[in-house]
Amino acid sequence: MEAAPPNFHFHDLQPAPEDFHTDVIAGLSRQTKRLSPKFFYDELGSQLFDAITRLPEYYPTRTEIGLLHRYGEDMARMLGNDGLLFELGSGSGTKIRVLLEAIQPQTYAPIDISRETLRMSAGAIAQDHPTLEVHAICTDYSKPLELSGFFDVQQRAVFFPGSSIGNFDPTQARDLLRRIAKLLGPDGRLLIGVDLKKAPALLHSAYNDNQGVTAKFNQNLLTRINRELDADFDVAAFRHEAFYNEKLGRVEMHLFATAPQHVRIDGCCFEFQAGESIHTENSYKFSIEEFQTLAAQAGLASLRVWQDDDALFSVHCLRPI
Ligand code: AVI
Repeated sequence: MEAAPPNFHFHDLQPAPEDFHTDVIAGLSRQTKRLSPKFFYDELGSQLFDAITRLPEYYPTRTEIGLLHRYGEDMARMLGNDGLLFELGSGSGTKIRVLLEAIQPQTYAPIDISRETLRMSAGAIAQDHPTLEVHAICTDYSKPLELSGFFDVQQRAVFFPGSSIGNFDPTQARDLLRRIAKLLGPDGRLLIGVDLKKAPALLHSAYNDNQGVTAKFNQNLLTRINRELDADFDVAAFRHEAFYNEKLGRVEMHLFATAPQHVRIDGCCFEFQAGESIHTENSYKFSIEEFQTLAAQAGLASLRVWQDDDALFSVHCLRPI
């Protein structure tokens, strides 16, 4: 293994395995069974998500990257350079690479729950940008972050791409945006990708792709529970399905049991009826105004919005009020 470059620093604040155990048992003990989408991203889950982003049906990633290419200089001007740039859910690092030349931050701090993906992608960015200080932080950003003591740079910006904000229910999304506003300080800027409302048929194919990659991504959550929590799900007996819930403005992903099942997880028993669902993800879609209202409730004012010509995806620049 190659030595890490001197400008690369890794901070491992990954949640303890007990958190996964507690969340899974609590989620499956509910009347309507649920699992948190944040647990999708083990090593295989991160690879499957990467494959999703390259699917012809999954428009968000290529549309957002198109916006970053087209308006990157503009976005960088609004963020300001030479400061500290956080990225929430940095994943493979593809998106920030489009903006780094334009923004030229002093320090780049990618935050991700998936340790090995983060180590590799942030390490490669440090290697390719030897004058950039890279502080990779492995943690669960959906929980309160205590990062203020880590860095002493005044000018701060947060990049939160991918419309991952849509994977939080509105109350949690507001809380997370409020915490981001606090992290930014009075003069900071947030650059956030937000998926737009659109024809349900487009959403349906984006989340039920023909090659079945999204189905594998969804089912991998049960494989992970089997491996890490000593469980015995018959994974093949759970069918993936995603649909647009128009009333709530969100795509819902579920795993439906195709036959009755009795599952043991580390000594606890869970019964599944045929047709019963485990709700694994919500992906909220917004109009520009809906997102601006949500952000304002969290203390963030809109400075600028960019969207593509087909109005599929938006990128917002916001500042603390
Ligand atoms: C990470 N997140 C924004 C993706 C989404 O579109 O909600 C996760 C995903 N789930 C299925 N496909 C992609």
